[in-house]
Amino acid sequence: MEQHMRKIMEIQDISKTFFSKKGMFTAIEDVSFDVREGEFLVILGPGRCGKTVLLNMLAGLIDKTTGRVLLDGKEVSGTDSKISMVFQKLALMPFKTVQENVELGLKFSGMPKSKRQEISQHYIDLVGLKGFEKSYPSQLSGGMKQRVGIARAYATKPEILIMDEPFGQLDAQTRYSMQNEILRIWQEEKRTVIFVTNNIEEACYLGDRIILLSECPAKVKKIYEIEIERPRNMISREFLKLRTDISDNTDLAI
Ligand SMILES: Nc1ncnc2c1ncn2[C@@H]1O[C@H](COP(=O)(O)OP(=O)(O)O)[C@@H](O)[C@H]1O
Ligand SMILES: [Mg+2]
Repeated sequence: MEQHMRKIMEIQDISKTFFSKKGMFTAIEDVSFDVREGEFLVILGPGRCGKTVLLNMLAGLIDKTTGRVLLDGKEVSGTDSKISMVFQKLALMPFKTVQENVELGLKFSGMPKSKRQEISQHYIDLVGLKGFEKSYPSQLSGGMKQRVGIARAYATKPEILIMDEPFGQLDAQTRYSMQNEILRIWQEEKRTVIFVTNNIEEACYLGDRIILLSECPAKVKKIYEIEIERPRNMISREFLKLRTDISDNTDLAI
């Protein structure tokens, strides 16, 4: 791990308990970890363990029951433009073109049209959608829609990109190619990525580090530093060893 990496985000003892008429339910319990500037950090955990709840707290979109989330030393709030999200089910606007979808966040910030177009074109090119600027989401494949979501998230130039199982609904072949694409984009753009998945192989392929969560309520089980050089070979001995170590430490068959 490079030594100059500073902590960009600090997650300190956060918990989340939901209260309802039926009683209370704890989804996250005393989770702490740091995020290093520029890293590709993977959060890995079983389905329904609390990953989305955790991400929403990191982004300041829901309240924490306990703990603090600091970005550059300051507590995160939901209106923080320094954080941008990519979701599994992309909320693309069906009656807007690729370009209009990518420009959405910029439009909200009141940026003039010519500047918006310049930025959106850069990110459309970056994600490999040149020529599809005027297409509508319904005309795109699943992988291409994810590319739009990624371009839209990068276009606002956030400090941190949070991606919530972005490839969960893609077929296996598209998923592999998008894994390579997201690494290429991350290497070109040099922004911090927090990537959530329930797929061990995907986590081992992508991450500089992996935060392994337990089943619900989610706690940090172990943090893995991954030294395997990229591009990683999924059938190399060191890759399979890491994958097996993590499987052995995992609560459910995920
Ligand atoms: N608003 C809510 N009220 C009550 N329970 C919730 C709420 N949001 C999520 N949960 C529960 O928290 C648990 C974790 O959910 P989630 O974070 O979506 O899991 P995943 O790891 O699959 O992303 C689930 O059992 C879910 O039902
Ligand atoms: Mg989820």
